[in-house]
Amino acid sequence: EKIPLSLKVNGVKHKLSVEPRATLLDFLREQLHLTGTKKGCDYGQCGACTVHVDGQRVNSCLSFAVMHDGQEITTIEGLADGDKLHPMQEAFVKHDGFQCGYCTPGQIMSAVACVREGHAGSETEIREYMSGNICRCGAYANIVAAIQEVKG
Ligand code: FES
Repeated sequence: EKIPLSLKVNGVKHKLSVEPRATLLDFLREQLHLTGTKKGCDYGQCGACTVHVDGQRVNSCLSFAVMHDGQEITTIEGLADGDKLHPMQEAFVKHDGFQCGYCTPGQIMSAVACVREGHAGSETEIREYMSGNICRCGAYANIVAAIQEVKG
């Protein structure tokens, strides 16, 4: 039986019902069609599914949608301001912070949290904070450069 859920996603209020066992990741992708958030491992190991929940980064594959009643979710689709990219998106473009791009939405959501939470003080600190976001193409140096640019 489905469970009622109301939450805000990228500034838009939703009132709907969800399968009790639906992960936040599947809910975002399949019910809201926000496919920018990626499914890599589906068990908390790769970071491709990273979103923000009330401003905190979360691996959306590890939590159930029903746990987020009344909360505010931000996905990669919610970062830009209309046609204007978020500064972290600009910096990833400028520094080539991706190759295939599959991990990029998760990388960017973590990168934004990294700067906001004050963990971008040094390269070591950035790499530590970002260590849950795996990039198979190995774009790490460029990702770090992008974060350092935004941090200023
Ligand atoms: Fe969630 Fe890999 S898909 S951590």
